Amino acid sequence: MTTFSTGQIPAMHSRTVVITGANSGIGRAAARALAARGARVVLAVRDTTKGQAAAATMDGETLVRRLDLADLASVRAFAEGFQDPIDVLINNAGLMVPPLGRTADGFELQIGTNHLGHFALTNLLLPQITGRVVTVSSGGHRAGAIDFDDLNWERKPYRAFRAYAQSKLANLLFTAELQRRLTEVASPVRALAAHPGLAATNLLGHLDGDPLRRRLVHTIAVNFLAQSEEDGALPTLYAAVADLPGGSFAGPGGLLQGRGAPKLVGRSKAAQDEVTARRLWRVSEELTGVRFPLRVPSGSER
Ligand SMILES: NC(=O)c1ccc[n+]([C@@H]2O[C@H](COP(=O)([O-])OP(=O)(O)OC[C@H]3O[C@@H](n4cnc5c(N)ncnc54)[C@H](OP(=O)(O)O)[C@@H]3O)[C@@H](O)[C@H]2O)c1
Repeated sequence: MTTFSTGQIPAMHSRTVVITGANSGIGRAAARALAARGARVVLAVRDTTKGQAAAATMDGETLVRRLDLADLASVRAFAEGFQDPIDVLINNAGLMVPPLGRTADGFELQIGTNHLGHFALTNLLLPQITGRVVTVSSGGHRAGAIDFDDLNWERKPYRAFRAYAQSKLANLLFTAELQRRLTEVASPVRALAAHPGLAATNLLGHLDGDPLRRRLVHTIAVNFLAQSEEDGALPTLYAAVADLPGGSFAGPGGLLQGRGAPKLVGRSKAAQDEVTARRLWRVSEELTGVRFPLRVPSGSER
C-alpha cells in the first residue's frame, strides 16, 4: 500500500498542467495541490466566473480558460487558443446520471462530455503535450458496456447510470488505446487513468428523479460513505506525478476501493479488451472528426 499524499508532489516550477472541470470537486482539489507546488495550472472550465472563483482560492500561478466539453466547437477553440507546451493534461470534468440530454453535436450528454469531448481535446493538444495524459474514470466503469449499435442512446430507452458506466468504461479504453498508439510512435508521453473512489463533490447534484430519493442518496453518500474532495483527488495526483508506467490505473487502496491512499488498481475485463478499445477509437475519430496526430519520427527504424 502506498502512502502517497500531496506532500510527495515534487516541485512543479516551470511545469504547465491543464485540468478540465477544475472549478469544482476533485479537479479543483487537484488544481489547488499542483498550483501550491509551483505548477502553472490552467483551469479549463465551462463557466469562467466559477473558474475565477475557484482560482481565487489557490496559491500559485493559475489561468482560467473556457472549455465546454459538450460542444466540439468550444473544444477546438480552447485548443486553438492555447498553444503553449503542456506537461500534464488531466481529463477530469464529468457529469453523472443527468436526465437524457444531448451535446451541441447531438451526442448523449455523458458519452459526449465524459469521453468524446476529452477524446477530441486530447488529440488536438497531443502535439503540445510532453509528459502525461491522466483521464479520470470511475469504479462504475465495471457496470459499463460499449454499445456500438447505439452509443448515443438514440434507439433504446435511456438508462442514466448505464450511460454513465459506458462513458467511464470509455475513459479506460481510451487510455489503453492512447498508450498503445503513443508506444507505437515511440512517444515519451504516458497515458494513465485514475478514479477517486467515492468523494463528496457536486457530482450527485445531477441525479434525475424523485427529489426525496435524490436527497436521501446524497445525504447518505456525502455524510457516511464519501471521502473529502482532497482525498478523492489523490489518485489523480498520484497518476499525474508518481513514477508509474503508461497504462496504469490509480484508485483508492482502502475498503472496496471507495477511499484511502492511492495505489494501482485493477479494471474490468471489458476495460482490457483491445479490440473494443481500437474500435471505440475509430468510432470516436469518426464522430468528432479529430484524429491521432502523431507519427513515427522520420528516419526512425520502427
Ligand atoms: N465524486 C465521486 O465520487 C466520483 C466517483 C467516480 C468518478 N468521479 C469522476 O470524477 C470526475 C470529477 O467529478 P467530481 O466528483 O469532482 O464532480 P463535480 O464536483 O461535479 O465536478 C465536475 C466538473 O466537471 C465540469 N463539467 C461538467 N460538464 C462539463 C462540460 N460540458 N464542459 C466542461 N466541464 C464540465 C463541472 O463544471 P460545472 O461546475 O460548471 O458543472 C465540474 O467542474 C468526473 O469525471 C467523475 O466522473 C467522481
